[in-house]
Amino acid sequence: MCGIVGYIGTQKASPILINGLLRLEYRGYDSAGIGVLENGAISVMKDKGRVNNLYNIDGINDLSGTIGIAHTRWATHGVPSKENAHPHKDNSGEFAVVHNGIIENYNDLRKFLTDKGYNFYSQTDTEVIPNLVHYYYHQDEKDDEQRLLRAVNNACKDLKGSYAIELISKEHPDMMIVVRKDSPLVIGKGYKENYISSDIPAILSFTKDFYLIDDNEIAVLTRENVEFYNDNLEKVDKKLESIEWSATAAEKDGYEDYMLKEIYEQPNAIRETIGSRLPEDGPCYFEDLDFSKEYLSSINKIYIVACGTAMHAGLVGKNMLEKLCKINTEVDIASEFRYRDPIINEKTLCLFISQSGETADTIAALKLAKSKGAKTLAISNVIGSSITREADYSIYTHAGPEIAVASTKAYTSQVVLIAILAIYFAEILESEHYAILKDLKQEVLSLPAKVENALKSNKRIQDFARKVYNEKDMFFLGRGVDQTVALEGSLKLKEISYIHSEAYAAGELKHGPIALVEKGITVVGILTDPKLVEKSISNIQEVITRGAKTFIITNQELPADKFDMIIKVPEVNPLLSPIVSVVPLQLFAYHISKEKGLDVDKPRNLAKSVTVE
Ligand code: M6R
Repeated sequence: MCGIVGYIGTQKASPILINGLLRLEYRGYDSAGIGVLENGAISVMKDKGRVNNLYNIDGINDLSGTIGIAHTRWATHGVPSKENAHPHKDNSGEFAVVHNGIIENYNDLRKFLTDKGYNFYSQTDTEVIPNLVHYYYHQDEKDDEQRLLRAVNNACKDLKGSYAIELISKEHPDMMIVVRKDSPLVIGKGYKENYISSDIPAILSFTKDFYLIDDNEIAVLTRENVEFYNDNLEKVDKKLESIEWSATAAEKDGYEDYMLKEIYEQPNAIRETIGSRLPEDGPCYFEDLDFSKEYLSSINKIYIVACGTAMHAGLVGKNMLEKLCKINTEVDIASEFRYRDPIINEKTLCLFISQSGETADTIAALKLAKSKGAKTLAISNVIGSSITREADYSIYTHAGPEIAVASTKAYTSQVVLIAILAIYFAEILESEHYAILKDLKQEVLSLPAKVENALKSNKRIQDFARKVYNEKDMFFLGRGVDQTVALEGSLKLKEISYIHSEAYAAGELKHGPIALVEKGITVVGILTDPKLVEKSISNIQEVITRGAKTFIITNQELPADKFDMIIKVPEVNPLLSPIVSVVPLQLFAYHISKEKGLDVDKPRNLAKSVTVE
């Protein structure tokens, strides 16, 4: 997804901007550009392709301006091209803008501006913004300090959609304006310099002090100051937040890829997620939650809403909430939920899971649930992210930054967090025996060590991946909770290895998909629930008979000669088993991608944070 960087200070802006863009590369993009203000003009340098291509542009190294904006674009309106890359200037070259998000009414605005004599040189929705600002700026007869602020605010009032915008103006060489609505943006505060980014890691090496700008707020940055305004242009007070992450926490730490590093970080990430929420004696504790027995007893339905891997974590969560709390729980894909008029009222509790906290569909689903009177609880990894600011309650996974597009540690820490949440609810509701909950808490505490143990199979998984990486199709099978892990394993394989795969409830195979099974195809079986293992083995037997190769993840004793490869993982309460059994599946997808020589961290067509619908 698009990324934004900005700088205003005393140092040369261009290296800071390019460095910031490089750190945002993981978000996915197709073109990049910077705009630097110097000697009374704005120099825009941009191109299709990698950020590093910017270094080949003539004159880029000579830019000496100390204020600038930068962008990585992920095409939505118009093909990836130099013309469509950001920054975009207005017709007169007075203003330059970078923008994340989508301007839904850009056709109407283009028409409005074209009628006023403005021309357009790109296919983007963004180009209306600098021209609208130009229009309002020159409509304004009052030439005071706030003229630019007023022009930007007026322009924003015309925009429908989502946006994070950075703007510089050659008439105001010591000022930068940023605005945000439904698109991420943070401001880093330094000494006599300020930074902007769509994501904290991009500027974490420059400062640890951040302002979180809210929806519909405008910030005016000078070298010394950052001032915030609401959309009535009244001043807003903001607290400076300090971020604990070190810049190196966002680096690769000697691993070949972020994904591998993040897979190996899981034991620690889980420890962080548990934190002090499971005290030795006493009930589960969430600093930011204060649910009463009365309220929890009044809930008639829980919805878990999310996208992709986060939704798969929700499927595991459903199982826990239903079993431990006896509350009917439904899981929905955010992009479906938001348009299907779900039955929601004040007796509904809606959980929204999002690693980034910036997924457009999840945010929209949350707003819908709130508007219908439900209580909303966000589960995110990013403090201050949009979803956490919208929700009534927020709890964090504390898994540290996840950079690889393929989500790994976010999934396991989300599942752990929902497990603790389900135990917390069950303790308040007294809906499950004390002894069962006590045992389950011990099991949660044992997870870091068990995940550590599961990681030890890495070499054997790599060996098997070497045998099958050239295949075109695979199946992932499981029953019960193992089926939810099958979905996640299949998604991981698809997204980073480009191998087509399907995840099925093992018992469903013979109702159609088994027709696709033929000699050589690989079937991955997840067999961890003791009650269902025998049943699943029968289903796996059916594919073996049809010539499939089998790769089995299990915590049970199974006859080694029956399957092509068995990966044994530690036993754990079936409610929690996905946290352990997913690890070999993550490694399997990783090694297949590596064998194929693909870019593991930045798979084609995908972005880390899907901030458009
Ligand atoms: O940031 P979110 O958790 O809201 O992201 C949701 C999905 O886009 C994400 O999990 C996606 O499916 C991952 N690429 C999967 O690895």
